[in-house]
Amino acid sequence: MGDTGFTLEPLGTCFGAVITDIDLRHIDGPTHHELHDAWIEFGLLIFPGQFLQRQEQDRFARCFGELEFTAAPIANLGKDGRLHSADDDDVVKAIRGNEGWHHDSTYMPVQAKGAVFTAEIIPSAGGATGFADMRAAYEALDPATQIRLSELRAYHSLYYSMDRVGLLPTATDDQGRPQGYGYQVDTPCLRPLVKVHPESGRPNLLIGRHAHEIEGLDPAESEKFLDDLNATACSPDRVYHHQWQVGDAVLWDNRRLMHQATPYDMNEPRRMWHTRIAGDPATELALNQTG
Ligand SMILES: [Fe+2]
Repeated sequence: MGDTGFTLEPLGTCFGAVITDIDLRHIDGPTHHELHDAWIEFGLLIFPGQFLQRQEQDRFARCFGELEFTAAPIANLGKDGRLHSADDDDVVKAIRGNEGWHHDSTYMPVQAKGAVFTAEIIPSAGGATGFADMRAAYEALDPATQIRLSELRAYHSLYYSMDRVGLLPTATDDQGRPQGYGYQVDTPCLRPLVKVHPESGRPNLLIGRHAHEIEGLDPAESEKFLDDLNATACSPDRVYHHQWQVGDAVLWDNRRLMHQATPYDMNEPRRMWHTRIAGDPATELALNQTG
């Protein structure tokens, strides 16, 4: 039980907690402080049965920082009620691309701080969201590997990650670039492979599907190195997959955790809402960007 009345139950893995006896539409100052501390300590907070409206979700997310963008649908169900299910549909491609482990917006000049994600419509099976603890992954490495990784930097690009799995959108903008959020960054963002979390002070791996071309390595060698590192980092003992119920809300720390979508039958509708919390440019700006 928190001092302010909510109940917190750790997931029993190295991160994550379920919080009940709380209404996220009405958070007072002391409760916000306690939630913020829990967010930094556990990395992932799960709030069952909240049924937030979009503006309520955004208001809750703003408790943790400015927004990179307000509640956006992650859905195979269009505004017009059309179900997107074909493999060559750009909506489907974007959803499938998220199945690779990643931190959000590492391909943008400022990496995201976190996100609030809620479930409105869920399929009858599948569609869980996975989370993986990159702090625990770093701490599990031997000291020599920790030092080696601390000296490496890689580029992050959405174009790279989607091209690699053959899921670039077909639609292009007037300059011939793929259409969609994240494709308009002309210079891939350079980031360290190990980054100290600005609030906890603990080192985290910063890797995932958008990372490529480690400086000083041959591209093929870099790709294999990062594939191996991603696989090791996301070992089962550092991973939790959340199987959604309608009305669930989660808040995660994108500086510490990676996440992934998992498949479901695209002939069934699914609509999630994602509010992205902006990173602090003082700590989350890419090494080669000016903001
Ligand atoms: Fe994501």
